[in-house]
Amino acid sequence: MKDKTRRDFLYTAASGAGAVGTLAAVEPFMRALQPAADTLAASTTEFNVSTVAPGELKTVAWRGQPVFVLHRTPEMLKDLHGHDDLLRDPMSHAVPEVQAEWMKTDEQRVTRSIKPEYLVLSAVCTHLGCIPGFEPTPGQEAWGNIVPPDWPGGFHCACHGSNYDLSGRVFNHVPAPHNLHVVPYKYIHDTTILIG
Ligand code: FES
Repeated sequence: MKDKTRRDFLYTAASGAGAVGTLAAVEPFMRALQPAADTLAASTTEFNVSTVAPGELKTVAWRGQPVFVLHRTPEMLKDLHGHDDLLRDPMSHAVPEVQAEWMKTDEQRVTRSIKPEYLVLSAVCTHLGCIPGFEPTPGQEAWGNIVPPDWPGGFHCACHGSNYDLSGRVFNHVPAPHNLHVVPYKYIHDTTILIG
């Protein structure tokens, strides 16, 4: 009986030492897996959207990629409606999960932004990665024949002719397969967003 108690004690002590040893061995590994503060900072970009004038587009760098921030006017927001039949995915159903968290209502699926007036989305064409140009003026006149006659304003990718509207929704009959991606972002102050 005495031997058994001693054996139990030795076993418990050995197991405990093993667990501590294992934890000690794993801890540096776990620390290495956690991103350093400077890495985390580099993976996010803070931007004050109030620096973008109504109707203006600014391009922000995030993780080495360009991101469009467009301040849409009331007219631009109105022009998002009425051309669903020209779009491949007008209600933005083919969106990654990260966007779907806040993209819940029909209006959010059309405006594709947390605050309708500020559009924040990837500036990388979903066809082969060129950066589309900003062509906000409705109608074909101003842009020759690079956009359709009933152009509502949007983005035109000169590489292979893809067109997106002012919510980054892709038009039918162009090579780009998807709407421009809405990047992950949130408001950390009334006019400041954190991308990433
Ligand atoms: S890369 Fe934009 S249309 Fe091909």
